[in-house]
Amino acid sequence: MVHQFDVIIVGAGGAGLRAAVEIPSGYSCAVLTKVHPLRSHTGAAQGGVCAALGNLEEDNPEWHAFDTVKGSDYLGDQDAIEVMCNDAPRAIVELEHMGMPFSRTDEGKIAQRRFGGHTRPLDPDDPDSKRVAVMRACYSADRTGLVMLHTLYENCIKNNVRFFSEYFVTELLVENGVCSGVVAIEILTGEIHTFHAKAVMFATGGDGRIWRITSNAHVGTGDGFMMAYNAGLPLEDMEFMQFHPTGLWKLGILVSEAARGEGGILRNKSGERFMERYAPTVKDLAPRDMVSRAIIQEIREGRGIQGSDGTSYVNLDLTHLDAKIINEKLPEITGFARTYLGVEPTKEGVPIQPTAHYAMGGIPTDVDGRVRLDNKDGIVRGFYAAGECACVSVHGANRLGTNSLLDLIVFGRRGGKAITEFLKSGAELPKLKADAGEWTKAKVAEIKFRQSGEKPAPIRTELQQIMMDECGIFRDAKGLQKAANRIEKLRQQYKNVVIDDKGLQFNTDLLEAIELGNLLDTAKVVVACALNRNESRGGHSREDFPERDDQNWMKHTFAWNNGEAAPKIDYRPVSVTKYKPKKRVY
Ligand code: FUM
Repeated sequence: MVHQFDVIIVGAGGAGLRAAVEIPSGYSCAVLTKVHPLRSHTGAAQGGVCAALGNLEEDNPEWHAFDTVKGSDYLGDQDAIEVMCNDAPRAIVELEHMGMPFSRTDEGKIAQRRFGGHTRPLDPDDPDSKRVAVMRACYSADRTGLVMLHTLYENCIKNNVRFFSEYFVTELLVENGVCSGVVAIEILTGEIHTFHAKAVMFATGGDGRIWRITSNAHVGTGDGFMMAYNAGLPLEDMEFMQFHPTGLWKLGILVSEAARGEGGILRNKSGERFMERYAPTVKDLAPRDMVSRAIIQEIREGRGIQGSDGTSYVNLDLTHLDAKIINEKLPEITGFARTYLGVEPTKEGVPIQPTAHYAMGGIPTDVDGRVRLDNKDGIVRGFYAAGECACVSVHGANRLGTNSLLDLIVFGRRGGKAITEFLKSGAELPKLKADAGEWTKAKVAEIKFRQSGEKPAPIRTELQQIMMDECGIFRDAKGLQKAANRIEKLRQQYKNVVIDDKGLQFNTDLLEAIELGNLLDTAKVVVACALNRNESRGGHSREDFPERDDQNWMKHTFAWNNGEAAPKIDYRPVSVTKYKPKKRVY
């Protein structure tokens, strides 16, 4: 079946929904999503969305921009960062007007809390004075992403946005630099649909499911990355994966940084507040790359706490916090600790370990969501991306907590506005790519009708383990090469993948097998880019190249599909406006 729309948005998380809200009612707009919109991964975001509102103490978008640049280990594009931070206060007020129920101060203002890497100078007139943590994260208890998602969804319903829920998009149709639509499998029926559109936006999220310990929902399988890559487009900075310091031990479920923002402390096996040694000024509120490395360092040096299964963790100590704070501001994460680990956070430490959380890299875009055709200034006509799947690049080598929800609403809106301008300028339906749907049909047939071969689950488990072992927080050439070889072996095994369910309706066996292909190919790109970058910066910590190398690496990696060979790699310089790279100390 072929559908025609002015705009197709793939993904119903914060970025996709914010973009959809922006499309005027005179244009037909449909959102395609592989889960129900309210199951999108934005709903798992907990601690906050930042903006220099200054509701509780003096703040300023310029300080926010500086923190973001420094947090990014100077790889973030500074012009884009300024756009995001300057727009943040407006974006929050807009959400409030859309009905988002923020937590409030006693005066009724939007409440704000501290988060890692967000600071203010002690002397506001001297930006070089000592910096201390600032209350910049606006929040709704520890369910900020969930209420944002609900608010945006309600606004989409109000605006009559059409949803195609449980449609799994498998092909991006791009030819000669022009996008003409997407192809999707309707999960309920197994039917293949072509969506022919003037403009397509990807808001398809990340790829955290490549790693065994991850905070990502099961949907985070890198589908958007791979559809773009397989359509001949580059991916940017894929080596940079953020490990959030506090995932529930063994499970990876997010335990919000808000817990430390509210006063929680990380302790090793002797009860020592070890972050004092690594980041003497901001301590537990150092940026995530630093805190995650510190936790692994503690464990490696024997100061972790050993669990019954032989793996180690450190404790997040909330026992000194007022019960009112815990109950009112951190109900979700303390509930998780009770439910999943059986610990009582008011009385004992919560066992945590770093968890794969957020892809800083992705589909390269400009600040209006227009997808880059190359590493120069080419643009793909009619194709846009926003949110985690996009690389603007505002997060560089390490994202600051709460800048992700901000990214969704700032760049989702800008992308929606850019699409509207594109439509108003008289954009016509482009010629539909002639072979639309052929890849999907062939893939489905190949997987479903194979009678014997390799089961997906063991391939996925091995992939996730090798990525934890060799392409996690610390990496080196030897381990990365080992990972590359193993991934290649798994990719070959995958060519013979077999599933049990041969039916049409709700064939999740089939979907998981297709997702596995995306996981394997995304991992191949991540490892190749990590092997290529011979320096340590932000979330990419090479033990064989422990220093940041600004001489040679103030540049973004661009990787293209090169068939069975390793991806082809080239670069794009980082945009530096005000802030020259400096040593990063906290
Ligand atoms: O820790 C958290 O609440 C996560 C926030 C984020 O990733 O921005």
